Amino acid sequence: MNAASMKERVGEAAVGHVETGMRLGIGTGSTAEAFVRALAPRVQDGLRIVGVPTSERTAALCRELGIPLATLEEIPELDLVVDGADEIDGQFRLVKGGGGALLREKIVAAASARMLVIADASKKVDMLGTFPLPIEVNGFGVVATLLAIERAGTLLGLSGDLALRKVGESAFITDGGHLVIDASFGRIPDPEALSAALHAIPGVVEHGLFLGLADAVLLAGPDGIEHLQAN
Ligand code: A5P
Repeated sequence: MNAASMKERVGEAAVGHVETGMRLGIGTGSTAEAFVRALAPRVQDGLRIVGVPTSERTAALCRELGIPLATLEEIPELDLVVDGADEIDGQFRLVKGGGGALLREKIVAAASARMLVIADASKKVDMLGTFPLPIEVNGFGVVATLLAIERAGTLLGLSGDLALRKVGESAFITDGGHLVIDASFGRIPDPEALSAALHAIPGVVEHGLFLGLADAVLLAGPDGIEHLQAN
């Protein structure tokens, strides 16, 4: 089974966790998009939900498919968020932000009673960090912020390329108007320490380590969907 079919299957499986009346956070990325595409026909058939999208991209797709939306300002407490991930470790810690939506994704996850992560089995890792860690930063003083991130990494024994994310020749700009630095640390043995160190840097808006947020993971593999539940 190819990656696209696995995303379709896990997107479909996630719809089974959505109940009528739910206030639903809706993630970003290709797996979240498969979820949205599976959710739309159920909504047309009468499943009553209101979605809070984690990006402009997801909002546009939901509107196109007729999924009712609200903002997080209108509905600040959600029942469930369904979102993808770039990496998932054995303690349900995640790296997210490959699609650049990490800030809104984290705000929505924190506002949700439960977070259901959907992914194909390739996203499961022993240790986070092979996927470059996205760090959303303010444009002001971006070089100073990059150097501060480098120093913070060094203090934790982490090193690697820090690259400003680009789209063609231009800097990638997030929905919040910020920049993204992708940090190729390789392996991150202590994500909590790195999270705290990054949060202490003034130019860092947010980072893609999602710690203590995921409650369950649906993992699609060649043999079907594995349902992993955090304690
Ligand atoms: C978006 O910013 C990300 O956090 C995505 O959730 C993550 O990159 C997973 O994306 P895919 O489902 O496309 O792999």
